[in-house]
Amino acid sequence: MSFANSHQIVTNQPGVHEKLADIVEKHLKHAFQKPYQQHSIDGFKQVELEVQRSGKPIIFDSCCGVGDSTINLAKMYPNHLVIGMDKSGHRLNKNEAYEQHGIDNFMLLRTDLNDFWRLALDAQMLPEKHFILYPNPWPKAKHVQRRWHGAAVFPSLVALGGELEMRSNWRLYLEEFSAALAITNHSSEVAQFVPQPCITPFERKYQASGQPLFKLNASLSVNT
Ligand SMILES: C[S@@+](CC[C@H](N)C(=O)[O-])C[C@H]1O[C@@H](n2cnc3c(N)ncnc32)[C@H](O)[C@@H]1O
Repeated sequence: MSFANSHQIVTNQPGVHEKLADIVEKHLKHAFQKPYQQHSIDGFKQVELEVQRSGKPIIFDSCCGVGDSTINLAKMYPNHLVIGMDKSGHRLNKNEAYEQHGIDNFMLLRTDLNDFWRLALDAQMLPEKHFILYPNPWPKAKHVQRRWHGAAVFPSLVALGGELEMRSNWRLYLEEFSAALAITNHSSEVAQFVPQPCITPFERKYQASGQPLFKLNASLSVNT
């Protein structure tokens, strides 16, 4: 007898989405021109000031949720400034984290990445490393354009460059992302892994329920 694990992916998609290539090609041909929201511009300016002040190379922690991974990455990479971004409100602030962990090489920003990534690219604020940990999977086939590789902002995400690491409990999400990257002439590797230790709340939750976890790695500054 088998039991479905909680949070396990349920999808009606048997393999890479049949329209993936068409969607990616369309986004590569037509620049994403949705106007920026004013609060995205204001938030971006705060980040620019912090990047200039710190003088450190930067790491993006996109879709950081409550910011636990941002703190963990800041500890792992003390010589970088880690910028955690999420469209939902964050609960940690820098002072609390500084008091708890003795680190201040990070910042958290509430922003929509559909704007932020384009603003960063326009300003050539490029990350050395880019983490996207457990993005929303949108497992129904009809929602493929809500996945990052099906989104209009995908070409900007790729153009930001850096060492990309994306993690998911849904292997197909990463395989699709990898197929989309191949269309932009970037190779990537997808592998099952065991996080040691877990660095995000979703990662902890998935691991506790015994689900296999996967990661994708790509050097986006190198074309193949
Ligand atoms: C499944 S949660 C993962 C959170 C965290 N990385 C973790 O592993 O615990 C996905 C996160 O992506 C964020 N997100 C989705 N679309 C976004 C967007 N357009 N801009 C910024 N954040 C977004 C959501 O708010 C949510 O916090």
